[in-house]
Amino acid sequence: MTTCSAPGKVYLFGEHAVVYGEPAIPCAIERRARVTAEPRNDGRVRVEANDLSLDGFTVSWGDSVEDRPDIDVPTQLVEAGMGYVDEAVGQARDAADAPDAGFDITIESDIPLGAGLGSSAAVVVAGIDAGTRSLGVELPPGEVADRAYRAEYAVQDGQASRADTFCSAMGGAVRVEGEDRRTIDAPELPFVVGYDGGAGDTGELVSGVRALREEYGFAADTVTAIGDVVRRGTEVLRGADPSGEPAPDLLAELGRLMDFDHGLLSALGVSSRSLDAMVWAAREADAYGAKLTGAGGGGCIVALDDTGGTETALDYTPGCEATFRAELAADGVRVEES
Ligand code: MEV
Repeated sequence: MTTCSAPGKVYLFGEHAVVYGEPAIPCAIERRARVTAEPRNDGRVRVEANDLSLDGFTVSWGDSVEDRPDIDVPTQLVEAGMGYVDEAVGQARDAADAPDAGFDITIESDIPLGAGLGSSAAVVVAGIDAGTRSLGVELPPGEVADRAYRAEYAVQDGQASRADTFCSAMGGAVRVEGEDRRTIDAPELPFVVGYDGGAGDTGELVSGVRALREEYGFAADTVTAIGDVVRRGTEVLRGADPSGEPAPDLLAELGRLMDFDHGLLSALGVSSRSLDAMVWAAREADAYGAKLTGAGGGGCIVALDDTGGTETALDYTPGCEATFRAELAADGVRVEES
């Protein structure tokens, strides 16, 4: 039996535009998914998922996700869970050269599903690492990231960048631009997350941006402008002392860029009333800046605030279901138990 965990993430900048080769800077946060894998020799896969901020579920299947079980939980959740786990199992079998391996898999996660905090990437990353290790094979985090990307790419019909999976596998702050991906130095940024209790459909939201980008030159320019925000943000982070407290003027500049990024994402149609309400509550509470994080449509915003102001304001914002401070997770994927 092997248990591995991997962190969720917030996007400081660059979601959606990263799908078209623009840079993005996601940051891993101390909210983790834990996956336990125990090999079984009948080739079957049995999955139990708990604490997913939605109903848990137990499901088992044979060779394919077409082999649907009859269970009473939301279809979307089962399909999402089965799709990601099935691809992670496929990657683990392939990496360990064990095409017939079966598994008992348990998933626990404190990352809300589909809320922009990288729940699926964390489950896939931790699942591939736990699955391969349980078969006696240790992959370097870079290879876990690559395999997790292939798994997400398959489930999301080719609509995935490398950003979420690379960030979850490596931990810390990362910069992804097309095939170029690297960890970067960043100071401990005072992230505050607001969650509206909802979720967006990443595939649909990415398709919506793609359609706008193809139809209107100015939408394509908006995507490029997000890339410009990220390039500027990269310069700002380069000038920061990664070991010290971030200076107020650094936070102010990053916050201004986050505000800009949110405006551009809104123009691309991926914000929502509740995300905008939380962003504005944070700004009015004097956060340095605030934006949606992840695919959007619902889910989470991230603000920069080193006072308690944003958390208090979000607690009183209609539509905000939960607020928490998110610390940068230095560790990416790691073994919890073996
Ligand atoms: C989703 O967390 C982030 C998107 O940029 C999609 C992706 O990068 O794969 C919207």
